[in-house]
Amino acid sequence: MYPDHVAIIMDGNGRWAKNKGLPRISGHKAGVERLKSIVEFTTNCGISYLTLYAFSSENWNRPKKEINDLMNLLSLFLTNEAKNFLKENIRLRVIGRRDRLKKSIIKKIEELEINSSTNDGLNLIIALDYGGREDIRSAIINIYKEFSINNMSIEKLSLKDIEKNLMTSGIPNPDLIIRTSGEYRISNFLLWQSAYSEYEFVKCNWPDFDNDIYLKVLKSFGTRDRRFGKLNEL
Ligand code: IPE
Ligand code: IPE
Ligand code: MG
Repeated sequence: MYPDHVAIIMDGNGRWAKNKGLPRISGHKAGVERLKSIVEFTTNCGISYLTLYAFSSENWNRPKKEINDLMNLLSLFLTNEAKNFLKENIRLRVIGRRDRLKKSIIKKIEELEINSSTNDGLNLIIALDYGGREDIRSAIINIYKEFSINNMSIEKLSLKDIEKNLMTSGIPNPDLIIRTSGEYRISNFLLWQSAYSEYEFVKCNWPDFDNDIYLKVLKSFGTRDRRFGKLNEL
């Protein structure tokens, strides 16, 4: 069985470019092309949710030029793909902080989120200026405000209250998290949400992550025995 929610840490664009003697931006461009075809493949598999880690809270610490290049690529992607999303019945949602993004990018995101909100095909979630720790921090702030205004005892706080205040509110937890580029780490991705996710670490860099490799990973997920702490009947 395919997962209902796949999340991908699209890593290794820079190394892909370096291996070819190209500037890092070429790797990011190739990464966007790969992303488009993976979105299409995911839709065809009938998977309901796809979350893509595009830019982390910590990626702001990269050189200005790289950040600029990435933001320009993102802007271009949002403009070019807008029509496609609507045509392909994709519903877009962006998670992460918005206050550090350019106004023009925020506008494009908001427009796309509204225009695609009645689509009922693939739920595409892009994690942009996203960090799992920041997600939890902002949830704590929201919860504090809600509980203070309503004079509620903090002892009453439930797991559901926390989930409802995370940036992923309303989105099911990822069943499968894939990371490309051969790194074995989560890099501040969906920290809370990944408590029971299955992981798949793939050696190739993101621009080389093709449909065949993706299909293999999806099939391998089908063989996993997910117990969630319980004992499965033999
Ligand atoms: C992933 O590729 C894209 C982003 C993090 C924005 P990298 O840019 O991290 O590529 P490597 O890991 O340096 O090869
Ligand atoms: C994780 O990749 C973030 C994204 C893919 C957007 P990084 O390249 O930023 O992660 P580290 O620095 O190798 O942990
Ligand atoms: Mg990287």
